[in-house]
Amino acid sequence: MDDERAIALRLAFGLAGQVAIVTGATSGIGRASAIALGRAGATVIVDHLPGQEREAREVQAAIEAYGSTALAIVADVTDEGQVASMFEQTVARFGTVHVLVANAGVQDGARLQDMTLEQWRRVLDINLTGQFLCARAAAREFLRRGMQPSVSRALGKIVCMSSVHERIPWAFEANYAAAKGGVSLLMRTLAQELAPARIRVNAIAPGAIRTPINLGQRDSEAEIEALLRLIPYGRIGEPDDVANAVVWLASDLSDYATGATLFIDGGMALYPAFRGAG
Ligand code: BGC
Repeated sequence: MDDERAIALRLAFGLAGQVAIVTGATSGIGRASAIALGRAGATVIVDHLPGQEREAREVQAAIEAYGSTALAIVADVTDEGQVASMFEQTVARFGTVHVLVANAGVQDGARLQDMTLEQWRRVLDINLTGQFLCARAAAREFLRRGMQPSVSRALGKIVCMSSVHERIPWAFEANYAAAKGGVSLLMRTLAQELAPARIRVNAIAPGAIRTPINLGQRDSEAEIEALLRLIPYGRIGEPDDVANAVVWLASDLSDYATGATLFIDGGMALYPAFRGAG
């Protein structure tokens, strides 16, 4: 991107001077969101797990290439102490946090009769409890810091990564669908609770986005065709399709949006099987 466009983006979204934590930032939607926030001027914390250092460095370098600052931090979102420590390290280094993108998530499906309690708990822990722990830490920091009118109209912004499967039941993925259904009501409840403090909480419900999480659903031409039949807009989504919405929700351009879920899914949640049927 040339300098002028990069500068225009910064001015439009006004994220310069804001600090954003993105969980699960080394791949897929998290990676694209971290880079897009950096491109829009934010200082970005690239949260990741041990063993993902190389990927984290790549994301950091991509953000720095846009002239923004990035810091990679290891924190498992299911661990209360590690989440607290990530926020502490961020505040120690950059003074505060303005944006949380609660993105980290996994998929580990099975037929109900085969799903282990461990599988159920792990997916609920990462995809739902992880968002609770990070949102709680973010709200505590926003409230501690207080308003900074020259930085943002909101005290803080939380973007929860949900899925079309917060609405669409998904056979063989009971743990994932239950977690995303939980994210939907967690997000709206927090939005209701925190709006008087001027903390905005919104969600994005991505459809089929080209990321490692759904590689197994795109193995053959036949699978891709079957997937495309579920997407009225006729293409698989790209991580940037979601990242662009993250940047908007993090910025003051969305200042009156709270408790909203943006379906970024090419129409997947519009019951496409009903076109000309039913
Ligand atoms: C899942 C993907 C899936 C998409 C649409 C997402 O939440 O993580 O694996 O392709 O929903 O079904």
